[in-house]
Order: sequence, then C-alpha cells, then structure tokens
Amino acid sequence: MPYPSHWQDVEGAPPPGTALCQASDIAEGQAHVATFRDGSLLFEMFVLRPPATAGVGADAGGLIAYVNDCPHARTPLDWQAGQFLTADRTRIQCATHGAEFRFEDGLCVHGPCPGARLTRVPIAVRDGTVFIAGG
Ligand code: FES
Repeated sequence: MPYPSHWQDVEGAPPPGTALCQASDIAEGQAHVATFRDGSLLFEMFVLRPPATAGVGADAGGLIAYVNDCPHARTPLDWQAGQFLTADRTRIQCATHGAEFRFEDGLCVHGPCPGARLTRVPIAVRDGTVFIAGG
C-alpha cells in the first residue's frame, strides 16, 4: 500500500471531531499517542508539543500531529511510547533507522528517506481538549 499523503486516506482513520487528549497533559518535548481500532484496522497518530527551543510555529495551542507511520519502512516512529525526538530535541526521529523529520512540515531531512514527509493530521483545541479538525 503506498504511503498516504492525506490522513483520511489511512484505513481506520477516525472522523474529524474525534477527541484525542487534553492539551495540558502534553509537556514540552512530549507526545500523546492515540490509537484507534476498527475491526482489524489500526490507526495510530501522535500529538506532539515541540520544545520551545525548536523555534517553530505549531498548530493548535503549540501542538502538531502526525500519523505514527514512518514513510521509510512503515513502522511506528517512537522508540518508547511517546518518545519521538532526536537527542538534541530539534527534530522528530524514527527509532527504526534514524530518519529525522522537521517539526513544522514532517519533511525528512536526514536519514534513509530524504524528501519523504510524515502524514499530517489537522488538530484543534477547544476548552483544553485536542480534537481532529476537519479535512
Ligand atoms: S522505518 Fe523509519 S527510518 Fe526506517
């Protein structure tokens, strides 16, 4: 199956409006992994609060979200649950072969799949709750 460029093309993706977590539960540099099962389908994504030192803009209350699926060999990215950052905390890193992705657009800038992009999931925060946004 080709790597999806749009999150809604991922089998098992939940609909817009789905609640994910509380924004205040995600500390700087940490992430919340949200998993959805629909029969045999599994959809996993993460909501990340990049370190302030990264100096990048971020969606929805300082948070960004991507499908937890590396475009290189299609494994989850985190090396431990919720751990997605490089040692210097400047990028997202895949634990499998070390690909590094920019926070702001998910572009791979180092490692085995340069030019590939993580699949972004649009999010919004309302009353402190993080939701999947439309489209
Ligand atoms: S699977 Fe992510 S770098 Fe290979």
